Amino acid sequence: MKTSRRTFLASAAALAGAAALPVTHAQSRRTLRIPALLDARAGPVALVAAEGQTAFYPGVASGTAGYNGSYLGPTLRVHRGDDVPVAVTNRLAVDTTVHWHGLLIPGDLDGGPHQLVLPGATWRPVLPIRQPGATLFYHSHVHHATADQVYRGLAGMMIVHDPAEDALGLPSTYGVDDLPVILQDRKFAGGRMVKPEGMMSMMQGARGDTVLVNGTPDALARVPGGLVRLRLLNASNARAYHLSFTDARTFHWIATDGGLLESPLPRRSISLMPGERAEIVVDFSSGGKALLFTAPDDNAARMGMMDGYVGGPLPVLAFEATRAQESPALLPSTLVRHEVADIRSATRTRRFTLDMGMMGMGGMGMGGMGMGMGMGGRGMGMGRRGGGMGGMGGGDMDMFTINGRPFDMARIDEHVRLGDTEIWEITADMMSHPFHVHGVHFQVIGRGSGGPGPDDAGVKDTVRVDDRVRLLVRFTQPSRGRPYMHHCHILEHEDMGMMGQFTVA
Ligand code: C2O
Ligand code: CU
Ligand code: CU
Repeated sequence: MKTSRRTFLASAAALAGAAALPVTHAQSRRTLRIPALLDARAGPVALVAAEGQTAFYPGVASGTAGYNGSYLGPTLRVHRGDDVPVAVTNRLAVDTTVHWHGLLIPGDLDGGPHQLVLPGATWRPVLPIRQPGATLFYHSHVHHATADQVYRGLAGMMIVHDPAEDALGLPSTYGVDDLPVILQDRKFAGGRMVKPEGMMSMMQGARGDTVLVNGTPDALARVPGGLVRLRLLNASNARAYHLSFTDARTFHWIATDGGLLESPLPRRSISLMPGERAEIVVDFSSGGKALLFTAPDDNAARMGMMDGYVGGPLPVLAFEATRAQESPALLPSTLVRHEVADIRSATRTRRFTLDMGMMGMGGMGMGGMGMGMGMGGRGMGMGRRGGGMGGMGGGDMDMFTINGRPFDMARIDEHVRLGDTEIWEITADMMSHPFHVHGVHFQVIGRGSGGPGPDDAGVKDTVRVDDRVRLLVRFTQPSRGRPYMHHCHILEHEDMGMMGQFTVA
């Protein structure tokens, strides 16, 4: 086995970060909130989107939004083979949608920007669950308002349960040894959640100073002394996470966006861009305490005054194993077998260039930006019009592009044949962009001029693009009259036009 340079650098960075981090297990830690589990076989799945007040810190309320609660939503568990009726009711003052990120379902059920749920309305899709077990992500997807609505809290986790997984004996007791870990960085002022403002937050994506897990700052999880599965979901607007434990312990990476890896992979760190998921299994059988932290996020466009978005390492989630276990359970060495990707089956290659548009024009772009920025109030209030959750008004945001064109609801960018496999080649500059495609699974077949990197294992729907990435994409779902989206999952970039849409028929 060869140690790749990237993996080595990642663990070196992790250890350096650990040394710099004040590792404390202070009493001020808060018990990790576990979102309620809504199992589709136990009752109807109903989501009600509404505004609320959330006290992230005691005694200080923040204006937020959530599903069936004031911030985030319940974890939805659906079962492979079922058709799941869902009711989404909008009690906000503004339009919303719920997109099922990672579900392989027809386009008219997908919940993208074309399926607006108006205030007071209820949307009732029936979701056919026909894919392997996986950790998915549901969230608002209103064009020009996705960043604001998700930042406020309109997001949650979905788990596809697959009976084929049961025989593997993986930790699977929700909230006990199978934990949802919804990662979001937020900015706080005097304990109150605020939306980062200014040009840098628009250009690089909004980043906060505190990592919330399931809405809990300084979170502490009490876990049984044994193997514990963490379902990591990067639900942040823009932050890239580079996660490790301060004691540099090895854990096992078992699943990606699309579900299980073929075998558990031992790792000391794992990186997640916005929209990506990973499942890891951590061994707590020796008991005691542990702290998961994230190394500095250096994903920022490096140019003159735009520098300096790095920050330090941040604590993410502390653990206390309640008791040590005598004989730790073992992970199976084989989890699943994937069909081998056959590049020869690809019918064509399409190329996509993600561009930060006017940013590349330096001073001129900045001037334009400054004017555009002045037009929308960036307050946290959710109004029917104006700033806040309504987003900034229309066209002045559309300065990022794919293949030279900002997103246009009325323009279909690609027509794909149902059943085809295609090579999609994505290029980007300035910074790393997480590229996400609706309604498909893909495999990474190349990076730069070489093969896939060590982070590219498994089945994906979202991928980090540094310079050039090649994907083998299978189109198994029809769009049925509602186009699917492909876009950068830095939500500010998406809202500013780095998105396109395609049909599959
Ligand atoms: Cu997470 Cu277009 O979505
Ligand atoms: Cu999606
Ligand atoms: Cu981007």
